[in-house]
Amino acid sequence: MTKIIADHEIVDIRIPANGHLFIVLKSPVDMPTVFPGNFAELHIAKSPEAFLRRPFGILDVDYDKRLISFYVKIVGKGTRELANYKQGEQLNVIYPLGNSFTVSERNKEVLIVGGGSGIATFILLGKSLKQNNVKATYLIGGRAKEDILLTNELKKFGQVLITTEDGSLGEKGFVTDHSIFKSGSFCFDKIYTCGPEPMMKAVGEIAHKHQIDCEVSLENMMACGFGVCLCCVTETKEGNQRVCMEGPVFNTGTLQWF
Ligand SMILES: Cc1cc2nc3c(=O)[nH]c(=O)nc-3n(C[C@H](O)[C@H](O)[C@H](O)COP(=O)(O)OP(=O)(O)OC[C@H]3O[C@@H](n4cnc5c(N)ncnc54)[C@H](O)[C@@H]3O)c2cc1C
Ligand code: FES
Repeated sequence: MTKIIADHEIVDIRIPANGHLFIVLKSPVDMPTVFPGNFAELHIAKSPEAFLRRPFGILDVDYDKRLISFYVKIVGKGTRELANYKQGEQLNVIYPLGNSFTVSERNKEVLIVGGGSGIATFILLGKSLKQNNVKATYLIGGRAKEDILLTNELKKFGQVLITTEDGSLGEKGFVTDHSIFKSGSFCFDKIYTCGPEPMMKAVGEIAHKHQIDCEVSLENMMACGFGVCLCCVTETKEGNQRVCMEGPVFNTGTLQWF
């Protein structure tokens, strides 16, 4: 797969809600094909403490305009510094990295479950599912309504269901408490999930119980991002695998989760 490593100009950067950041970058060259689930490594040069690149899922791409966008949850020194960048400044980016979600027209109806930064890959996933005539339902969870982002964009690709822990939007509780799991309309033939690991494990268990194929995108801590340092490995039934190379997308059947 062709990879880009280049300085990109920031053409848009905004904080839609406290702790959340959207960035749009302009590529200096034609962009390689990006598949849903691929990620990029951003060099946050302004933060000497965050000298290692930080991995982020690719939110969206516009090949004609040469734009690539990211959604970032501000959690630490690197992401805090990223929020201080301004339009017109440059960010060095390597992408596309990692594998991608499997999308097949053999699936009729799929469920996509996410929370936190896990939603970042769901637009490209939705586009790909739509192109393959697969019906998608999104189930998005957060602590409160301020954490529920991108719903208008996701609605272009499928129905959007919401849960919040405080009940300020959608059904109250965790995503796995949603009534869709209890109703007769639970008729999905594939589940995709990305978000906090306990959430992904709980979703994976539901899929396992219903014998539904399930793919998760892991967000293990990374250093090099291209297979050398081995700091991102996860245990699978085929031995330890690197999340940055063999992942980040894994079928739950291959993980040592159940
Ligand atoms: C393949 C992949 C895709 C990702 N996609 C996105 C995305 O699209 N949007 C997004 O906001 N985040 C994403 N992440 C997580 C993101 O990389 C981290 O939140 C970021 O690196 C934290 O950098 P920092 O310098 O701000 O945090 P640090 O100061 O390094 O750490 C602050 C806190 O964040 C935790 N942390 C650091 N790295 C990670 C990590 N990889 N996963 C979970 N917690 C972490 C640390 O344990 C610590 O508690 C992704 C991670 C991976 C591996
Ligand atoms: S981050 Fe270095 S091997 Fe995966």
